[in-house]
Amino acid sequence: MHKTIWVVDFGGQYNQLIARRVREAKVYCEIVPYEKLMEKLEAEGKPAGFIFTGGPSSVYEQGAPSLPPSFYEVKAPVLGICYGAQLMAYTLGGKVVSPDFKEYGKIRIHREADRPESELFSDIPGEQHCWMSHTDYIEIPPEGFAVTSRTDSTPTASMEDKARGLYAVQFHPEVYHTPFGQKLLENFLYKICGLSPDWTMENFANEKIHDIRETVGDSKVLCALSGGVDSSVAAVLTHRAIGDRLTCVFVDHGLLRKGEGDQVMDVFGKQFNMKIIRVDAEERFLTKLSGVTEPEEKRKIIGAEFIEVFQEEAARLSEEEGGIDFLLQGTIYPDVVESGGGGGAAAVIKSHHNVGGLPEDMKMKLLEPLRTLFKDEVRAVGEELGIASELVWRQPFPGPGLAIRCLGEVTEGKLRIIRDTDAVLREEIDAYNKKLFDETGVHNSPESVWQYFTVLPNIRSVGVMGDARTYDYAVGVRAVTSVDGMTSDWARLPHELLETIANRMVNEVDGVSRVLYDLTSKPPGTIEWE
Ligand code: XMP
Repeated sequence: MHKTIWVVDFGGQYNQLIARRVREAKVYCEIVPYEKLMEKLEAEGKPAGFIFTGGPSSVYEQGAPSLPPSFYEVKAPVLGICYGAQLMAYTLGGKVVSPDFKEYGKIRIHREADRPESELFSDIPGEQHCWMSHTDYIEIPPEGFAVTSRTDSTPTASMEDKARGLYAVQFHPEVYHTPFGQKLLENFLYKICGLSPDWTMENFANEKIHDIRETVGDSKVLCALSGGVDSSVAAVLTHRAIGDRLTCVFVDHGLLRKGEGDQVMDVFGKQFNMKIIRVDAEERFLTKLSGVTEPEEKRKIIGAEFIEVFQEEAARLSEEEGGIDFLLQGTIYPDVVESGGGGGAAAVIKSHHNVGGLPEDMKMKLLEPLRTLFKDEVRAVGEELGIASELVWRQPFPGPGLAIRCLGEVTEGKLRIIRDTDAVLREEIDAYNKKLFDETGVHNSPESVWQYFTVLPNIRSVGVMGDARTYDYAVGVRAVTSVDGMTSDWARLPHELLETIANRMVNEVDGVSRVLYDLTSKPPGTIEWE
């Protein structure tokens, strides 16, 4: 068991970011909603330390998040951030005030030479910029606390009671705009909590392989493999643990990108030598989609059909082989946190796009080996396991596939145009991203294109080719920059690249007469068109 930090969530927008920074420092942590903290402490005993997140409330608001004063007798170090700092001050008898000004954005903090020594600020220069976002501030710290820094407008930018292991900062060390923030967090973790940086993905993979073997025992495991990053990493990890007792079912719904189905079979079947069954269900899906034009309806049909195909396959396998007790899912930590299961509470079934809410009568236990990991950690495990970086760093692809990029009715002819134009786009943008990667050494750098695909808006327009009039389809190109798909902006691609893309599509793909570039950010648009 790893020594753990509990990130106590008071509703701040940066709760997951704090947890990711702690993980970047190679320390394991869990996000715990503040309401569940005392109960969890009672049940599990204390962790190596706590970090309180910020939050939108003022300590004076009715019903504002709080913790009982008895919490502070826990005798493990605590670092309060923003609201977490104010709450600590208020609960322990300090004075928090609500002024009529805000400190927002880049603010200077001062740690004058006569301030007390502080391990939290070890090797951090005394004058610094940091990121603030608050109205309330701590005017007088509680008894026993020393102020360790101030700003130009407020007296307490940080305070601590070393004897009790209580530390608090008004600013946000977790955001990149606080340049010394990571160092400060590391000081807390290593020097104050006494932790070592041993949460590595190599250790994780080894421990998980061992855990999976223990959990599964002599049983068998079934997995719906889509070729997406999460299910792929989960499958390879499980295969390392139990070999051929894992069977992967790959439902090819005929709505995949060009060459994708064969690639999945190649990578997992041939390269990793896994037991994988490809169910060729294109005709079934296209028949069900025939005549359907409404986007939500399409999604529902695809989700339901997927379950049916998968269930049939599972039933067949159970009958033939028996002993399939587990269903493997690529659930990751943000899914767990966002669905309210933070802190390892009840297992929450991810309504995974491809599994679309699992059939309840499939009496299998869930195996979710990645449920403690953030996406970047999943990728690191994938690389650790030797999965090719094209797959580990591949762009997201929606479960309903090309159907939601084919506006109006989904037909084989229209899918062919989307597939072929998408292949051209992928070739060009993959090369563009690769060049950026070679220059910066970073996957997903701010300039690189996060997701890119073509859509067929179901519009035909007049053109001229050779000497003849054409009446062919207009193709939309969507290329966006993003961090997590929650917000996005259209990619500022070089004009020459756009020109090459458009020329190639019109010349190489039959049925295309025009190419449009989508200039909509999210919000107000979404990334997909349906
Ligand atoms: P939107 O279009 O909502 O998409 O801005 C945000 C991200 O989610 C992906 N997406 C889906 N992924 N099943 C999925 O697994 C879906 O039904 C689905 N719809 C959208 C989309 O590609 C983008 O990355």
